[in-house]
Amino acid sequence: MDQVNSFQGRRIVLGVCGGIAAYKAIELCRQLVDAGAFVSVVMTESSKEFVGEATFSALSSEAVWSSLFAEQDPIPHTRLGQAADLIVVAPATARLISAYATGYSHDLLTNVLLATRAPVVICPAMHTEMWEHPAVQDNLKILSQRGVHVVDPEEGRLAGGDIGSGRLAGTERVLEAMRGVLSSSTPSGEVRGDEILEPSASGLHGLNVLVTAGGTREPIDPVRYIGNRSSGKQGHALAEEALARGAAVTLVTTTQIATSPAITCVSVDTAQEMHDAVMSRSATADGIVMAAAVADFAPSQIATEKLKKSDGAPMLEMHPTIDILAALGSCKPNGQTLVGFAAETQDVRENAERKLKDKQADILVVNDVAAPGVGFEFETNEVAILCAASEDRFVPLTDKRSVAAVVLDVVVSTRSAQEPVPSSGE
Ligand SMILES: Cc1cc2nc3c(=O)[nH]c(=O)nc-3n(C[C@H](O)[C@H](O)[C@H](O)COP(=O)(O)O)c2cc1C
Repeated sequence: MDQVNSFQGRRIVLGVCGGIAAYKAIELCRQLVDAGAFVSVVMTESSKEFVGEATFSALSSEAVWSSLFAEQDPIPHTRLGQAADLIVVAPATARLISAYATGYSHDLLTNVLLATRAPVVICPAMHTEMWEHPAVQDNLKILSQRGVHVVDPEEGRLAGGDIGSGRLAGTERVLEAMRGVLSSSTPSGEVRGDEILEPSASGLHGLNVLVTAGGTREPIDPVRYIGNRSSGKQGHALAEEALARGAAVTLVTTTQIATSPAITCVSVDTAQEMHDAVMSRSATADGIVMAAAVADFAPSQIATEKLKKSDGAPMLEMHPTIDILAALGSCKPNGQTLVGFAAETQDVRENAERKLKDKQADILVVNDVAAPGVGFEFETNEVAILCAASEDRFVPLTDKRSVAAVVLDVVVSTRSAQEPVPSSGE
């Protein structure tokens, strides 16, 4: 989807809070309108201390909204929230983030955020001390676990001449994150009369999806490790595909591959670090896709100094690493879909069937990594998808994004077979 089409005809609510970076929302507003979006600006009272209402009224698609009790509409909070295809808050203050996380809806913007089913992109901006405060970080964690997309701030010059993290993400990064969310092609909260249409059943809109990618590295000494040939490309393709389908995506990865800004990336190295990162986030995940190649064994001792060739070849004692997929399977909450990956070189089918059962996964994606063009390092893959509750699928050799699409199709169909479609709750 090109950049203009992403926003063409989409209804965007732009929330602006009271911080120095409020002036940057003017450029964001202008670019969205230029790209064909219908932009409704909701300003907090504090934001008017930083930028003029008249500027936004002139640049956006309608007069600025800021009061819950507006004359032009008796219930602006529900109309704006229901009609939106996407809500972006830039800049988002620590105050707004806290109010949104707790549901404290004393102003129009927090009411709009609570009265919507549209995807929400939050772009925090504040001084480094505020940004790093556990209260702010905890509130953001709550929001991202609920499916809110957070575009982390950047490092740079802050108000008052300080340098540090907390600077509002650049306009292009914010737009890119919004494009990623909108390209899910599942417009949320589309209104026809009084009826709110549910998003497409083929998407993952509103779900939290946790993906792992890459091969773990088990250190021997400060410079050497035991690793594997996994490139992480399949895991990253799964994360991007899940994002495109409207999920809030957390990617636990060992790689440095660039990702969409709307994906929350957690960098890890070892199997233990990957275990900790995954287990601490697993309870709130609707779907977990374990595409990483996690080491089965790790050195029991890690030398504190680089091992010297002159000392002779070391005898490495190894111990088995913790089995993350089995750990997830043993405490899987109701409604969670667990997907495991298996790279096999022999008895592919038998090993995969056993793994699916033993690890209590719902789906197991298996590839024969001995076959040409398949699995590690390649741009392509060929997989069989084994399902505990439905028919297996085979995906012949194709690019990894296409494999990701089929895997997520199977996730969606598994979930819809398990769950009744929720009513709108009106
Ligand atoms: C000069 C100045 C700059 C500020 N910049 C920020 C900021 O960048 N981020 C932030 O979270 N709060 C900032 N604040 C504090 C907020 O303005 C304050 O918490 C306010 O209540 C936020 O209101 P709002 O969230 O309704 O817009 C700033 C305050 C002042 C006086």
